Amino acid sequence: MGRTIAKIVGVAGYVPEYRLTNAELETMVDTNDEWIRTRTGIVERRILKDKTKASSDMGAEAVKQLLKKTGTAPDEVDLLICATATPDMLFPDTANVIRDKVGITSGFGFEISAACSGFLYALTTGARFVEGGLKKVIVVGADKMSSIVDYTDRSTCIIFGDAAAAVMLEPTDDGLGIIDSVLESDGSGRHLLYQKAGGSLHPATHETVENKEHFIYQEGRAVFKYAINGMVGSIKQVLERNGLSKEDIHWLVPHQANKRIIDGVANMFDFPKEKVMVNIQKYGNTTTATIPLCLWEWEDKLHKGDNLILTAFGGGFTWGATFLKWGY
Ligand code: COA
Repeated sequence: MGRTIAKIVGVAGYVPEYRLTNAELETMVDTNDEWIRTRTGIVERRILKDKTKASSDMGAEAVKQLLKKTGTAPDEVDLLICATATPDMLFPDTANVIRDKVGITSGFGFEISAACSGFLYALTTGARFVEGGLKKVIVVGADKMSSIVDYTDRSTCIIFGDAAAAVMLEPTDDGLGIIDSVLESDGSGRHLLYQKAGGSLHPATHETVENKEHFIYQEGRAVFKYAINGMVGSIKQVLERNGLSKEDIHWLVPHQANKRIIDGVANMFDFPKEKVMVNIQKYGNTTTATIPLCLWEWEDKLHKGDNLILTAFGGGFTWGATFLKWGY
C-alpha cells in the first residue's frame, strides 16, 4: 500500500444560460469579432443575468450536481473549500454560503482568494486535508466575473465570463490522485491586475464608484508575459521533481485566460494540441472555474491512470502547477 493521497472521484460544473457573443460586444464597445478571436481565442462567454444571483448560486448548482453524481449525502462532506475572486460579500465567506444553500451542516468550510490560481491553491489545500485524515472534501471554483467587469472597457470586457465547477476529493492509497503541486506567488505584481476599491485600503465611496475602481484593472500586455513565464516555470519544476518527460503527460489542463497564452505554454513543452484542454472559445476566462470546467467537459475522455498537469496564473501574482493521476 502506498501513502494516502487525495483522489478526484467526481467533477461537476455549472454555466449560466446567457451567451454574450462577440457580435453583441461589438454593439457595446469599439471592438470586433476578428480582433477578439485572434487576440484571445474567445467566441462567447456565459453571463449570469439574474441580478439576485451571485457566485455562491453557481457554486451551489455545481456542488448539488457533484453530490448527486458521487452519491454523497450533504452531511458526509467534511470540508468545502471555495476559490473565488468574486465572493458574494467580503464576509461571511462564500464557502459557507454554498454549504448552506446545498444543505451541508457537517464539517466546515472556508474561502481561498488567489484570483485565477484559486482553484489550484484550493485543490492543493483540500488534498492536504485529505492526507491529514478527512474523508470527503469538495473544492469548488465559482466566479461571477460579470459583477466586476466594466462593460465600457474593451480591453477587459471581452475576456471574462461567469461559471462554477467543483471536484470531490477522497483518500486513496492506489497512487491515483493528486501527487505534487508547485504553488508560487509574488505580491509585487499586484498593481498590474487588480480590483482597486471595496477593501480596507479603498472602501467604497462616491469617488471610488465614479472612478470605476470597483472594476477589474489589468495591464494585459505585461500580465501576458508573466503568465507564460510563470506557468512554464511551475510546470518545469513539477515535471523535473517527479521524473516526468512531456511524453508521460496525457493531458495539459491550463487556466483559460487567453488562447495565445495556452499555445505559448504548450509550445514551450512541445505538447501536441490534442493533449491540451481548451474551451476558452465557449466560456472566456471564468477565473477560478476554468480548470474544473475543463475536467468536467473532458471527463468522458479521461482514463484511469492518465497523467494530468494542471496549471494557472492569476492576479497577485499567483501561479503554479499540479501533477495528478486521474482516478476513474
Ligand atoms: N478590440 C479591439 N482592439 C482592442 C481591444 C478590443 N477588445 N482591446 C484592446 N485593443 C487595442 C488596444 O487599444 C491596442 O491598441 P493600440 O495599439 O492602438 O494602443 C491594441 O489593441 C493592442 O492592445 P494590447 O493590450 O497590447 O493587446 P494584447 O494583444 O496584449 O491583448 C489581452 C490584450 C488583454 C487580450 C492580452 O494582453 C491578455 O490576454 N493578457 C493576459 C491576460 C491574463 O493572462 N491574465 C491573467 C490571468 S486572468
